[in-house]
Amino acid sequence: MIYSLGVFLVVIAVVAQAFQLTSSHTPRMSRISMMSGEAKSHYKITLLPGDGIGPEIIQATLPVLDKVSKKHGFSLSYTEADIGGAALDRHNDPFPDSALKICRESDSILLASIGGYKWDNNPRHLRPETGLLKMRKSLGLFANLRPAKVLPQLIDASTLKREVIEGVDIMVVRELTGGIYFGTPKAIETDPITGKRKGYSTAVYTDEEIERIARRAFEIARVRRKKVTSVDKANVLDVSQLWREVVIQVSKDYPDVELSHMYIDNCAMQVIRNPKQFDVIVCGNMFGDILSDEASMLVGSLGMLPSASIGVPGQPGVFEPCHGSAPDIAGQNKANPIAQILSAAMMLRYDLHQPKAADDIEKAVEKVLDSGYRTGDIMSAGLKLLGCREMGEEIAKAI
Ligand code: IPM
Ligand code: MG
Repeated sequence: MIYSLGVFLVVIAVVAQAFQLTSSHTPRMSRISMMSGEAKSHYKITLLPGDGIGPEIIQATLPVLDKVSKKHGFSLSYTEADIGGAALDRHNDPFPDSALKICRESDSILLASIGGYKWDNNPRHLRPETGLLKMRKSLGLFANLRPAKVLPQLIDASTLKREVIEGVDIMVVRELTGGIYFGTPKAIETDPITGKRKGYSTAVYTDEEIERIARRAFEIARVRRKKVTSVDKANVLDVSQLWREVVIQVSKDYPDVELSHMYIDNCAMQVIRNPKQFDVIVCGNMFGDILSDEASMLVGSLGMLPSASIGVPGQPGVFEPCHGSAPDIAGQNKANPIAQILSAAMMLRYDLHQPKAADDIEKAVEKVLDSGYRTGDIMSAGLKLLGCREMGEEIAKAI
């Protein structure tokens, strides 16, 4: 199994390297397209605006996509579908089959954010988050790429010292459809005699699940700085011991990539102490959830961090900001749409095979930041404050 899949993925890695672009500006993402496939003249995109600030950051992204698609000679059509609280309100299901069908029929999916106070006390199956997890699992999106690259324009927006964060460029490769998020058994049970309750979840990974995410991480590292740090808790957890064994096994097929291992507690500390030591971090679902939020603070704001969730080549991926739905500022035109806009750039790169369009969006974001425009979350003295919509318009203009 390890070998047959290995040969297949080595081929993909070679193709991916052929896609690598050389570009004079600082690249935000690794220049890799892991999907085989070709550019088209028209794409069907599913929009999942979700909850909170979701609809406004999607709206702010559309002029950017409009501008960049015209420039590069392709067109996009959009179909909206419901997820999260919006889907609960309309269908009493956080990710109805009708939405899944729309997703499956599209070339790619742009998701904003889900969740809000209104649904916080719902039972598990009627929570917005359950819809998100169902979507990831149903679409087989096992690899979640969360790049945290410090932009020189935003160094002062970080709470960390300049010398610690300057030049940081980390790619967190998070396993997304397994681990403790999905493992069974899980339940909250009440003892019928004592009335005492117990809750439990199970962290599970199979050989295959670890192997495929590890291969993705090594392939990505190959077109970056060729370093993979695998994060686990192998000193305590059996599931982590297997994780480490399989990652070591897979690493033998990538002798050009340097592999190191780190326990999650140490890694959480090292990400703040000396983030420049990291290139690619590969980890299980929950560790990746935590580390990617942490990494966003290097970049200055969670509002800057895009992500790509990808699975089987040829199937649509989901592109979404790492941040949540920020219900406290929803509907006030205060949100930072940049993570969403950069997620759209990742969509163009990974799913739509339009790397030049992706480059253009990333450059436009830097240009707008260079001009001193900021949303509230990344604002510093002397700069120009923009609303969510206006930030989208400025970025579109800069293309
Ligand atoms: C994320 C989010 C989700 C997760 C939540 C909303 C279920 O925190 O994408 O990082 O835990 O995966
Ligand atoms: Mg998270």
